[in-house]
Amino acid sequence: MLAGKRVLLIIGGGIAAFKSLDLIRRLRERGATVVPVLTRAGEEFVTPLSASALAAQKVYRDLFDLTDEAEMGHIELSRDADLVVVAPATADLMGKMAAGLANDLASTLLMATDKRVLIAPAMNVRMWEHPATQRNIDTLKGDGVLFVGPNEGNMACGEFGPGRMAEPLEIVAAVQAAIADGPMKGKHVLVTSGPTHEPIDPVRYIANRSSGAQGTAIARALAALGADVTFVTGPADVARPEGVRVIEVQTAREMLEAVQGALPADAAVFAAAVADWRVENASGSKIKKDGKGSLPKLEFAENPDILATVSRMKKGRPALVVGFAAETDDVVENASAKRKRKGCDWIVANDVSPETGIMGGDENAVVVISDDGADVWPRMGKDQVAGRLAAAIAKALG
Ligand code: C5P
Repeated sequence: MLAGKRVLLIIGGGIAAFKSLDLIRRLRERGATVVPVLTRAGEEFVTPLSASALAAQKVYRDLFDLTDEAEMGHIELSRDADLVVVAPATADLMGKMAAGLANDLASTLLMATDKRVLIAPAMNVRMWEHPATQRNIDTLKGDGVLFVGPNEGNMACGEFGPGRMAEPLEIVAAVQAAIADGPMKGKHVLVTSGPTHEPIDPVRYIANRSSGAQGTAIARALAALGADVTFVTGPADVARPEGVRVIEVQTAREMLEAVQGALPADAAVFAAAVADWRVENASGSKIKKDGKGSLPKLEFAENPDILATVSRMKKGRPALVVGFAAETDDVVENASAKRKRKGCDWIVANDVSPETGIMGGDENAVVVISDDGADVWPRMGKDQVAGRLAAAIAKALG
């Protein structure tokens, strides 16, 4: 699946660097050419000889190596690849990337490249959680850098939490999604997913049971067809899809803002279970019992309808807007009315009555409503629904 593809692999200085040697093997097994770049710190963990032997390529090591510059300049090196991968991406490398520093070969390549960049962060939990790293993550995501991991687990330093580098096969999946050649190559698709959380006070919120499984599967399926996917998700249970741009939000209003910021797009799929109402008088401090039995009086305000807002855009509306309708009765009738009301092109309707086991389950039974009428799909896995929907979107966009 990666035959003929060229990956520039920057190996940063972290204990996880040993896994990057396996990553080289795994990528090559799938037909990719891997050109390794070792940072100075990276060389403390893996030797240039092992990287070079496994890649069967020259290893690039230092910006001011004049022989390399004569053979292939750093600009050319950075553009010669189909994808730039940083694994492990240390806190230091991420800081440099976010700040736009270019003071060694790795950071210069990252600044000079015109290709997508996928990073696999790896660091101590506290370093990952540090506000400076969190700021850098936001900046990098905003710049379109793709992330895979980090995973949660025991760390080499003896602590537990997020910070472990993603496993080589997870990185391979992200690489495949990021450079997939397919009918959707060059198309930008926006996908919303998951529930939203609407605060009551700083510790309480209103939410719903959406797991984010269907939206995540759709984002993955679109990426597998080569689409450039922006995935705007509320606080969902399921792992984020690989090889897509992920924007995390909490509330409906944040979701709308993220969606508007991510446009233009060729298509938009609104799979999120957005809360219809928010608490208008949400408290800035925790609401306490007063001991006299008086109850808080919550006032509600209607949230913006993101699907309707985008469907009715006069300028810059995506060519294809797909909404979802979770219904418990008269599915086709209600969903058809919803399609008209919201102004979207397609509605993917499903029956979420408790006896169907669909909400929170692995399967879905949908009816796709468009100008052509109602197309009833047999009950199948959410991944299969996603694959079929992605293929239909690819066909519609031509
Ligand atoms: O009105 P209802 O919530 O049933 O509509 C469902 C569809 O509308 C879904 O596609 C959902 O993502 C979208 N929606 C939205 N913003 C809202 C409410 C729903 O985008 N505030």
